[in-house]
Amino acid sequence: MGAGEPVGVRHVAIIMDGNGRWAKKRLLPRAMGHQRGVEAVRRVVRGARELGLEALTLYAFSTENWRRPEEEVSDLMGLMKRFILSDLDEFAQAGVRLRIIGDYSAFKPDVVELIDGAIARTASNTGTTLAVALNYGAQDEIARAATKAAAKGPITPETISAELDTADMPPLDLMIRTSGEVRLSNFLLWQCAYAELYFTDVLWPDFTLDHLREALQCFSGRERRYGGR
Ligand code: IPE
Ligand code: IPE
Ligand code: MG
Repeated sequence: MGAGEPVGVRHVAIIMDGNGRWAKKRLLPRAMGHQRGVEAVRRVVRGARELGLEALTLYAFSTENWRRPEEEVSDLMGLMKRFILSDLDEFAQAGVRLRIIGDYSAFKPDVVELIDGAIARTASNTGTTLAVALNYGAQDEIARAATKAAAKGPITPETISAELDTADMPPLDLMIRTSGEVRLSNFLLWQCAYAELYFTDVLWPDFTLDHLREALQCFSGRERRYGGR
């Protein structure tokens, strides 16, 4: 961790929102907003290690995002493929361990294959865990986890937690949402139980490492009580 960086944050999650509005403001096609959004992803993934984060979870595609026009869904898939092809080497060498939360088996076989390859390639890395949420919805995750827990024995918060997609990740400390929307949109509902929430008006393509630092700084000033006193 760099000198002067805020301490105590292990796991940050980000709802990367506002790509469409970023493009609209500039009279550009939405796809351009998503493209610039990928650059913001690159910035935060590169910066995660510098900021001493153990885990970074990014909401890239929700179970509800299938409702978007086919063309946009296909643009997003194309971007994802290109991102893996262009950036995997760098991240693998930097020690990033990739994992996916959500049921990405619903994607096209070539995408699934590419993702599986990327996961395998980084599986033994010990740096920052990058969890990308793909076809992810918290309600779907909790339902899947509860089903698995029930098959093994009594359902308790602990047995459900142990079956969540994030099971072996550190507890979520900070949830960030960009673009001014103040809602969770079905992201990490269980894990947010005691996470700090941070909302910023910055649109995702404009999000920089300094914005992330600002969020971490804000977090370090908060008192987490977990119900006690
Ligand atoms: C977030 O940007 C990216 C994804 C949901 C994949 P949006 O596409 O939701 O952008 P806005 O909210 O329309 O501005
Ligand atoms: C949440 O953003 C999903 C992702 C960032 C991937 P949305 O733009 O889909 O959420 P809503 O529709 O505004 O709630
Ligand atoms: Mg949005």
